[in-house]
Amino acid sequence: MSGVRKFEHATLRVTDLPAAVEFYTEVLGLTELEERDGVVYLGCGLDENYDLGLVEGGTGVDHVAVRAPDEETLDEYESRLGEAGVDVERTGGAEPNQTGGVRFELPTGIGMELVTVADASYHHPTRTVGDRKRTAPVDVDHANLASYHPDRDLDFLTEHLDFVVSDRIEGETGFTVQAWVRRGDFHHDLGISTADNVAHTLHHLSFEMAGIDAIKAFCDDLTAAGHQLELGPSRHNAGSNVFAYLWSPGGNRIELTAEMATVDESAEPGVRTITREENTVSSWGGVVPTREFLEKGS
Ligand SMILES: [Fe+2]
Ligand SMILES: [Fe+2]
Repeated sequence: MSGVRKFEHATLRVTDLPAAVEFYTEVLGLTELEERDGVVYLGCGLDENYDLGLVEGGTGVDHVAVRAPDEETLDEYESRLGEAGVDVERTGGAEPNQTGGVRFELPTGIGMELVTVADASYHHPTRTVGDRKRTAPVDVDHANLASYHPDRDLDFLTEHLDFVVSDRIEGETGFTVQAWVRRGDFHHDLGISTADNVAHTLHHLSFEMAGIDAIKAFCDDLTAAGHQLELGPSRHNAGSNVFAYLWSPGGNRIELTAEMATVDESAEPGVRTITREENTVSSWGGVVPTREFLEKGS
């Protein structure tokens, strides 16, 4: 965890667990913390909490977790969700360094939880966990979900979980094409994109890098290890963050990012209507998303 950002971890399904673990540890530089009940738990190594769980079988999201400050907050959301007719499971200690949790599904079936974690310290580069590479990500940053009904999931997040919309792109008749939502001051803890397939649940999982120099060093290591980027680097419109994307072994897209904007709680959401010709992905231009980038999830 780190202060303003509220996203805590994701567990992803992968088609090839050994290949995925090798990539995330050897190339991306995550530290393996533990294997428990078939899930391999990895961390960025600047705190004791896990950032990415990997489990064999398919692709996409097993669940994503957003941090809550304390048990009382979990109690409050457990009863609010229960009153709204949502099936809620209380978890706690089921995952490494997790002290409490409330687990449920978004309307489209994507697994999600609110969690409290044991390590609430701020990041300090001289206090590392495991054999952390200096170029490893600072932290997991956000997840961008692939939803077959973005408006239904967006309404759920704002109505029942008090997410606030930072930016939203709508189609010509007002439906949500993409949205970015936050629970604190960080521009987005979660994004929602339109899924190309009802079975798909993830557009990408994002990791914060120390800066664009760290993204550059990673891209050199990535190429040397025989992989290629899918898109970027460039700077986004929504969130103003720097980005680079790639498909990782095991079948999911990841993003390396830096410089995400923070937003005052009084800010009005930005809403843009897209036309098919417009490049909404890159504010610098010159980096043009392919149809596969815009539409394909996992
Ligand atoms: Fe979790
Ligand atoms: Fe992202």
